[in-house]
Amino acid sequence: MLTPLPAAKHRRPGRRLSALLGALVAATLAATTGTAGAQPAPVRAGTLGAQAAQSGRYFGTAVAGGKLGDGTYTTILDREFTTVTPENEMKWDTTERSRDSFNFAPADQIVAHATGHGQRVRGHTLVWHSQLPSWVSAITDATTLRGVMRHHITTEESHFKGKIYAWDVVNEAFADGSSGARRASVFQKVLGDGYIEDAFRTARSADPAAKLCYNDYNIENWSDAKTQAVYRMVRDFKSRGVPIDCVGFQSHFGSSGPPASFGATLSNFAALGVDVQITELDIARAPATAYADTVKACMGVARCTGISVWGIRDSDSWRSGDSPLLFDAAGNKKPAYSAVLSALGGTAATRTSAAAALPSSFSWSSSGPLIAPKPDATHQIAGIKDPSIVRFNGKWHVFASVASSSGYSLVYLSFSDWSQAGAATHHYLDRSAIGTGYRAAPQVFYYAPQKLWYLVYQTGNASYSTNPDISNPDGWSAPRNFYASMPDIIKQHIGNGYWVDIWVICDSVHCFLFSSDDNGHLYRSQTTVGQFPNGFTNTVIAAQDSDKYALFEASNVYKVQGGNQYLLLVEAIGSDGRRYFRSWTSGSLTGSWSPLAASESNPFTRASNVAFPSGAWTKDISHGEMIRAGYDQTLTIPACHLQYLYQGLDPSASGDYNNLPWRLGLLTQTGSTC
Ligand code: XIL
Repeated sequence: MLTPLPAAKHRRPGRRLSALLGALVAATLAATTGTAGAQPAPVRAGTLGAQAAQSGRYFGTAVAGGKLGDGTYTTILDREFTTVTPENEMKWDTTERSRDSFNFAPADQIVAHATGHGQRVRGHTLVWHSQLPSWVSAITDATTLRGVMRHHITTEESHFKGKIYAWDVVNEAFADGSSGARRASVFQKVLGDGYIEDAFRTARSADPAAKLCYNDYNIENWSDAKTQAVYRMVRDFKSRGVPIDCVGFQSHFGSSGPPASFGATLSNFAALGVDVQITELDIARAPATAYADTVKACMGVARCTGISVWGIRDSDSWRSGDSPLLFDAAGNKKPAYSAVLSALGGTAATRTSAAAALPSSFSWSSSGPLIAPKPDATHQIAGIKDPSIVRFNGKWHVFASVASSSGYSLVYLSFSDWSQAGAATHHYLDRSAIGTGYRAAPQVFYYAPQKLWYLVYQTGNASYSTNPDISNPDGWSAPRNFYASMPDIIKQHIGNGYWVDIWVICDSVHCFLFSSDDNGHLYRSQTTVGQFPNGFTNTVIAAQDSDKYALFEASNVYKVQGGNQYLLLVEAIGSDGRRYFRSWTSGSLTGSWSPLAASESNPFTRASNVAFPSGAWTKDISHGEMIRAGYDQTLTIPACHLQYLYQGLDPSASGDYNNLPWRLGLLTQTGSTC
């Protein structure tokens, strides 16, 4: 079913000139790889999420689903925060307003935004006396209420199973004041003390992977009766094996900030064997020192795993009259913002390093070949190449080129665990409406604004297909082109090269299409998020090198999670003739790219910085994809513990480039310090 290869495809060029060896190479490439007409990227400060990640913590916020259409709001959300808590959308009065009639749509929207951007989700909250529908508070019979409570927990948790980092299983179950008693909720009155334990046990069976938290306010001061009562409950749960993993301290403070004992309280709870988290932080009038003190209390306790503020801008706050948050109504950073950033270990204005948390040199460990071609009667295949990969719905979804001297086509496979990668069925996409003929170098992502999966690939033009269901290989639409024809600027610079390796990435306003020409140029076109996939225009040279082998092809561009940095990878051909990757960063997708690990001696990935514990099966680290933190059009990758799925091949293989026996292997970063 494969058709002969047209002219536009990679061919392996000859060995590079020895004159390009050594330090001179690195210096020359760094100096000449620039941009056409772009302004230098401004110096960026760290962000809350990136700074918190440096100590392994998250920095989160409450999110109101109704504000996800507000661009100022989502820009701050996705720049600063690595965890989100739905502010109201997971509460009982939204999710089960009438008995056994569930509505998860508002929360689904927030969860989709978060997972698409690689943000974790705190589930808030399953059992609470407030925002509780009256049909529940009217129940007087214990058996009925117990059944209703368990059904609510199980149904809600099952709906979000696998997507929630931690659940606030029970919220605010203790009374204020000096009694140390439990609050007189319907649960307490009808079911008695045992309902909290019952709720946690029910929650553990519904989603065993989620952390289960008890969450409350006015439990920050160690000597308070309420604090002591909660502490005794957690101690009792731990001693009897009742499942509980974390305690959330809401931390809605007055302008004097946290009590002096807050750090001691966190540390005393942590000593019981639970994580502690600051879950709903806001402080009247947001004094910088009060915020800094709160963050320092968490930083001083190893098991204080994260901090969430209860909203983004003052105007988003449930107590907006107190202006208690880190951003003003216009979205500007308030003084408390810098105080929090410094307390997290960062400094607002001085961070000038190239990336939020990426190191400037890399080392990796490689798997053996994990995925090999599976030819069948109608697909004669020598190599599997150019993988694109996302994790979605508990599975890896891999798209790749399959190649032989008779042509290129696309394949799809999915598996839940890497140990099953080799056994996965290969679905040839020429059986879908994508059809036969030259299709190569796929890139997959979920375009959240349209709730559609996109597969972008090269056909001689830059093409795409869409599919509502990534797991259905027959669901892809027929190819369409992004451009009427090759943009003029590419025609003018391509020389004897080929137009290859189409790559799309979007920020909150624009989508960009990158491509290469095997002749030392990386091109970039743009359209708006609203117009995508149409309207790609303004094609410019985003980076170039007078040595075409130093800036060859297979570029990847990613957003680094928890910061305001983008990572560019471009495949190069080394002085040894072997493929490797160079890396650059930029503060924006249209900014200039500064070298990160960009030379043969300090590469991003090259056989020289990869260990092969199961045997050195390849000397080429060629065309592939980072493992992302999410799956949407923002192409967000983690800042730590990077992984890269790549194509490699037997070093002794030779002959026709298109017939080489490429296999796929996985690199895992070693020595990641965060
Ligand atoms: C608040 C929300 O912010 C408001 O929008 C809503 O009207 C009331 O609830 N403790 C909690 C949170 O656990 O769920 C509350 O959120 C604030 C106090």
